[in-house]
Amino acid sequence: MKLRLEKYLVECGVCSRRKIKKAIAEGRVTVNGAIEVNDATEVEWNIDIITFDGLIPEKKELKYYIMYKTSGYITAMWDDNKKTVAELLPDYINKNSVAPVGRLDKDTEGLLLFTSDGDLSHAMAHPDRNMEKTYYVELDKDISKDDIISLESGVKLDTDYTSLPSKVEYISSKSIYLTITEGKYHQVKKMLKAVKNKVVYLKRVTFGNLTLEGMLPGEVKEISREDIEI
Ligand code: URA
Repeated sequence: MKLRLEKYLVECGVCSRRKIKKAIAEGRVTVNGAIEVNDATEVEWNIDIITFDGLIPEKKELKYYIMYKTSGYITAMWDDNKKTVAELLPDYINKNSVAPVGRLDKDTEGLLLFTSDGDLSHAMAHPDRNMEKTYYVELDKDISKDDIISLESGVKLDTDYTSLPSKVEYISSKSIYLTITEGKYHQVKKMLKAVKNKVVYLKRVTFGNLTLEGMLPGEVKEISREDIEI
């Protein structure tokens, strides 16, 4: 199957798409022995011979993992002082090749996706995608019907930004499921703050079509690209 030269090199994971475009334009890429400066040139795996800075890159195997994050870890791959989610990844996972998609706060638990697929990561995190994320939220104070209506129609956060419409499923007076399609910094906590409440426990239970079903806290499991509906 033919694909654009730029995409071929993205799938080899040589560097970011932007840097690849630049490298092609700079004449650092050859196709079958000749410099190729058009990133849209069609090439084919195992037929055309591509070099990048004189080396023949190979297709990178793309990996996907779901983590059931526990509290106490920041969403970063390294940090000088704080514990990171990288510490929850088992040794068999190449920590240099995967990165989390989006972030959860240090004290937030739940579903965090890791992948080496930069394109997918970008697509899932993009605001225009409206990826649904459902959070299980425990509250400090009772939630009222009016609060639920406000949360569902959009509330003004302390940043002056008004949240997009969301869905609330009432569980009890102090617990709800909140489904949002955006991911502003501390979004759920800020939304509850906007209705004069406070989040005391937060867990992301779904991310798009992905769920934590069958997983235990701290567990990481490999999934395939086909498991992710996007
Ligand atoms: N909203 C928050 O406030 N925190 C998270 O970790 C995720 C969503």
